Amino acid sequence: MTSFDFAPLLAPGLPPPAAKWTGFAKYNFTGGHNDADHVPVDLLLKAATDVLAREGRNLATYGLASGPLGYRPLRDFLAQKLKRTAGISCDADEILITSGSLQAIDLVNGILLDRGDTVIIEQATYQGALTRLARLGVAAVGVPLDAEGMRIDALAAALDDLKRRGVRPKYIYTIPTVQNPTGTIMSEARRHELLRLAAAHGVPIFEDDCYADLIWDGRRPPALYAMSKHGGVIHIGSFSKSIAPALRVGYIVAEWDVLGRMLALKNDAGSGALEQMVLGEFCTPHFDAHVPRLTRGLRAKLETLMDALNEQFGTAAEFNDPKGGIFLWVKLPDAVDTQKLFQPALAAGVAINPGAEWSTDPGHGKSRTRLCFANPSHETIRAGVATLAEVCRREFGVPDRIANVAQRARA
Ligand SMILES: Cc1ncc(COP(=O)(O)O)c(C=O)c1O
Repeated sequence: MTSFDFAPLLAPGLPPPAAKWTGFAKYNFTGGHNDADHVPVDLLLKAATDVLAREGRNLATYGLASGPLGYRPLRDFLAQKLKRTAGISCDADEILITSGSLQAIDLVNGILLDRGDTVIIEQATYQGALTRLARLGVAAVGVPLDAEGMRIDALAAALDDLKRRGVRPKYIYTIPTVQNPTGTIMSEARRHELLRLAAAHGVPIFEDDCYADLIWDGRRPPALYAMSKHGGVIHIGSFSKSIAPALRVGYIVAEWDVLGRMLALKNDAGSGALEQMVLGEFCTPHFDAHVPRLTRGLRAKLETLMDALNEQFGTAAEFNDPKGGIFLWVKLPDAVDTQKLFQPALAAGVAINPGAEWSTDPGHGKSRTRLCFANPSHETIRAGVATLAEVCRREFGVPDRIANVAQRARA
């Protein structure tokens, strides 16, 4: 039987087809996966049983009798948690539950962006944000980061430059609290400066707080959303990093004038109900105790990764100790092109994220790589880094063989 040819019927402008999934690499440092040992399976199981026994009949209605914004007890939990941790005063009706925060990004983009628009974004940033902008035909102006996040002098220069050219950017996208991929946290003082500058230029801020729960010492500055005196901030967050990414639950916090516009675009008749119910039931009694257990485990894995890199790469691998999160942003010597390292590393069983895909400026990302340490075990991290060093040495001549000796001498 010849198969039907859909090709001539496909809508114009589709992205290239997805590759078929062939399983995870043996040493997988890609993606934003979580630590399997810290998924609170037993408590989620109990939450699922309890909430279904009590409220399962509500599954008969679209929106679980909570309306289109999402399961009310989950939004109530978020409202009190955001107040306590991020200083955000909002009520449950200013929160829209989404199918992962990726849907939140799509909804924000959906109400604000048009082909030919410009946005400002951190120079090293979340690939999922960059690919969406590229697909929408939106120009992304990158602003370099330092140890405190987006550099305000560079942001001011970018805003001035755009103004001179008559361009009003649609938003400033930032991941201020445990930045992806650099792991920095923007200080409170810098947040004030950012808000002042954005307001002066009439540009809203799109605050992505995806990793804000995963801070080693648990201390964070208030959210930009909380600090803004005159609105102009849309805040999104996720349960992917604090609980589990496969649940696909994220959220948007915004004032109703914009939230209502996003809700009108969210045409899926509500995000998955079971995961919202289970999270709602789990989070109120257990979220606060769960998070520090998770971050302790993540910190231990980060230590293993940094040790392994020091041992295997010596001074050839440069990185800052991130303040939290699940990623290490590693600079290799200029001779290394991580996009060219990707295939031979994968052939040896090691999957890495090449830095160019996490940057508005491919030159900046060329010899950098983002390594996710949350999912692999300590042993896998060590073995994976050793294998990566072998492949890198074979392909690019670095690190040299005495890397570990050089490192000990340095210490
Ligand atoms: C900065 C940032 N925002 C949003 C997301 C999307 O996450 P999710 O859709 O799982 O909530 C990610 C995922 O890694 C991310 O790193």
